[in-house]
Amino acid sequence: MSVALLEITIYPNPILRSKSKKLEAVGDEETKLINYMVDTMYTNKGIGLAAPQIGILKRIIVVDAGEGLLKMVNPQIISKVGQSLLEEGCLSFPGKLVEIQRAEEVAVSFTDDKNKNCIASFKGLTARAIQHEIDHLNGRLIIDYLPWYKKVFLKRGETKCLQ
Ligand code: CO
Repeated sequence: MSVALLEITIYPNPILRSKSKKLEAVGDEETKLINYMVDTMYTNKGIGLAAPQIGILKRIIVVDAGEGLLKMVNPQIISKVGQSLLEEGCLSFPGKLVEIQRAEEVAVSFTDDKNKNCIASFKGLTARAIQHEIDHLNGRLIIDYLPWYKKVFLKRGETKCLQ
C-alpha cells in the first residue's frame, strides 16, 4: 500500500496561529484526512500531529508516543494532575527544542474515528504529546513557552540589553 504524505506547515506560516474549528461528525472525508495525518506523522518520525500542521484548521490530532496510535477529534482536556518539565520538539519547528512544563497526567474527552464519544486518561509522554497537539488547535506553539528574554531574541533577531 502506498503511503499518503502531506506537506508539513512550518513556522511562521500564519495557519499555525489560527484556531481550528470543531467537527460536527467524522465522515469519509475526515477518515481519509486522519489516515493521511497518521502516515505523515510516522514518515516524519513525529509522536504527534495536529491538522493545522498540514494546513487544515479542523480539531483533529493523532498521537503515538510508543503506547499505540490515538486518533482524536474535538479533543478537550477535562482534568490535569501533576507537573513535569521536559524538552519538546515540533515538526513545524525543525531542529528546535523548548523546555516545557506540562501536566503529568490528563483526562481527555474526544470523538474517535468511529464517531464514538470517549473519555480516557493518559500520563507521561503520551499525555505530553496530547497537550502539545491540542495547543496546535488553539494556535499555541512551543515558542510561546520560551522565557521572555528568548522570545525577544527570536522576534527581533538582535540582542537587547537590560538597564
Ligand atoms: Co507541534
